[in-house]
Amino acid sequence: MNILIAYGTSEGQTAAIAERIAARLMEAGNAVRLADLEGDKPEPGDFDRVVVGASVHFGKYQDRVTRWVAQHVAALNAMPSWFYGVSLSEAGGLTADGPAAAQAVLDRFLKTSGWHPVGSTSLAGALKYRECNWLKRRMLKAIVAKAGGDTDTSRNHEYTDWFAVDRFAGEIARVQSFAGLSER
Ligand SMILES: Cc1cc2nc3c(=O)[nH]c(=O)nc-3n(C[C@H](O)[C@H](O)[C@H](O)COP(=O)(O)O)c2cc1C
Repeated sequence: MNILIAYGTSEGQTAAIAERIAARLMEAGNAVRLADLEGDKPEPGDFDRVVVGASVHFGKYQDRVTRWVAQHVAALNAMPSWFYGVSLSEAGGLTADGPAAAQAVLDRFLKTSGWHPVGSTSLAGALKYRECNWLKRRMLKAIVAKAGGDTDTSRNHEYTDWFAVDRFAGEIARVQSFAGLSER
C-alpha cells in the first residue's frame, strides 16, 4: 500500500508521532510518504490510504490542517482514512480540562469538516518548552501552572503513550490487509 501521513505540527510532537506511525507501517511492508502541511500540499488521490494528524493550540487544530481536510473531504471520504489529534488535555492533570475536552475538540473537527475517517484517536502530546519562543513558553507555562503541571521550562516534558501510538498504527495496518483481501 502507498500511504500518505499528512500532519500539522507547531512544536514537533505531531511530527514525531507521524514518524513513529510511518515506521510501523513500513515495517508492515507499506510505502509511506510523510507530508508536513506547512508548505507540502499532497493530493490524497495519489495514495491508497491517508492518515492525518494535528495538534491542539488554544482549543483547535492548525488552520492548515482544517483547510486541507476541507479541500479534500470528498476524496478522504471515498478512501480508508484515519485521524489522530494531539493535545495536553488528553494527558490529564496538565491543563484545566482533561481527556473529555480533547475528545470534544476532535469530535467537533470531524463533525464540522464532514469527514468520516475509518478510525480516529486522541493522543497525549508533549510540553516542548525548549521549542517555544519566550512568549509561547510563557503562555504554555501559564496554561499548565493553573492545573499544577510541569512548569520547569528548562527542559521538554513528554506525555505521549507510544504504546497507544503503536496500537493505532496496528489498527491501520490491519484494516489495510482486510481491505486487501476483499479487493482481490
Ligand atoms: C501556545 C500553546 C497553546 C496550547 N493550547 C492547548 C489547548 O488549548 N489544549 C490542549 O490540550 N493543549 C494545548 N497545547 C498543548 C499542545 O497541544 C501540545 O504541546 C502538543 O504536543 C503540541 O503538538 P505539536 O508539537 O505537534 O504542535 C498548547 C500548546 C501551546 C504551545
